Amino acid sequence: TKEPLVLGIESSCDETGIGIVRGNTLLTNAVSSSMDEHVRFGGVIPEIASRAHLDAFVPALQSALREADVTLDEIDAIAVTAGPGLSGALMVGVSAAKALSVATGKPLYGINHLVAHVGVGLLEDSGIEGHGAELLDQLPREGLGALLVSGGHTEILAVRDITSDVELLGATLDDAAGEAYDKVARLLGLNYPGGPAIDNAARAGHRKAFNFPRGLSARKFMGTAENPGPHRYDFSFSGLKTAVARVVEGFETRGEEIPVADIAASFQESVVDVITKKAMLACQEKGIKTLLLGGGVAANSRLRQLAADRCAEHGITLIIPKLSLCTDNGAMVAALGARLVAEGREPSGIDFETDSSLP
Ligand code: KG4
Ligand code: ZN
Repeated sequence: TKEPLVLGIESSCDETGIGIVRGNTLLTNAVSSSMDEHVRFGGVIPEIASRAHLDAFVPALQSALREADVTLDEIDAIAVTAGPGLSGALMVGVSAAKALSVATGKPLYGINHLVAHVGVGLLEDSGIEGHGAELLDQLPREGLGALLVSGGHTEILAVRDITSDVELLGATLDDAAGEAYDKVARLLGLNYPGGPAIDNAARAGHRKAFNFPRGLSARKFMGTAENPGPHRYDFSFSGLKTAVARVVEGFETRGEEIPVADIAASFQESVVDVITKKAMLACQEKGIKTLLLGGGVAANSRLRQLAADRCAEHGITLIIPKLSLCTDNGAMVAALGARLVAEGREPSGIDFETDSSLP
């Protein structure tokens, strides 16, 4: 049987993404971002994002088809992010996808953005070492886990089947990791989005300059392997953000210059240390042998390094998608869509709705 050619559409936030895959092979990943229009507001403005999707959609679609050298006619199915995300932004992508589906007669699949973020690691050539697809075929399904770190979510997942059986093992109780980066960047006077800004600033700083708290790491939350506490695999980043705010205030009241690089590096260390430690714990205790890393924060250089080090130490195979597949994109949506098609799953039908808070 021939591998399905699938068009993926992503519009949940500021990125208009159109990706095309053939089975597990990535053909193209066209992304157009409206971030430039949001920077001066210090956050993504939903109305601006929606309008930008409208402008960007057709050009992105045309350039993706051109790059992949395929026609709409040849596409076997259309996949689109159904949620979670900004509702107006989601609606632009979903409306466009529905229109395309009606016009071409191609089946349409609504996709969970979060699952797509971690599933993209299973694309052939997805990772820095490019070992997605061959792993997928060999993998015992119960040996697979995922660490999802994005602007809205921070979760540890047991992935028994990427299209149907993903179990939430732990999640943040307050801010997501990316949100913490964005908030701390603001405290440090760095530009939005804060993730890349802190990643950069931290390069010139010392990771141990400040000893910031590791959320939910105390015994009463963690418990032990035999007797787990209430938040063994959970995260909290709001205390960390407050701790950074206090340190910054201290420098301000004393009229001293804020050591931005040192604070950025120490903050970043606190985030990635606790994320990777808890992920390793979950892997050991849940029999996870292969870990998929996904989401915008997976683009973070220190997280990529520490996750690789700790996985190597624990004998866990780590799949880290290349940078362009970590932040929001259409290829991850197409990739999950292609798996649904390959498994012979029913399309979503034309009347499915967007869900801005899809779990
Ligand atoms: O997955 P994503 O593109 O959108 C959501 O689904 O949320 O993630 C966006 C988040 C933002 O909070 C951004 O600051 C963060 O990912 N991010 C990073 C880096 N690049 C993007 N965080 C840390 N380091 C980075 N290099
Ligand atoms: Zn995302």
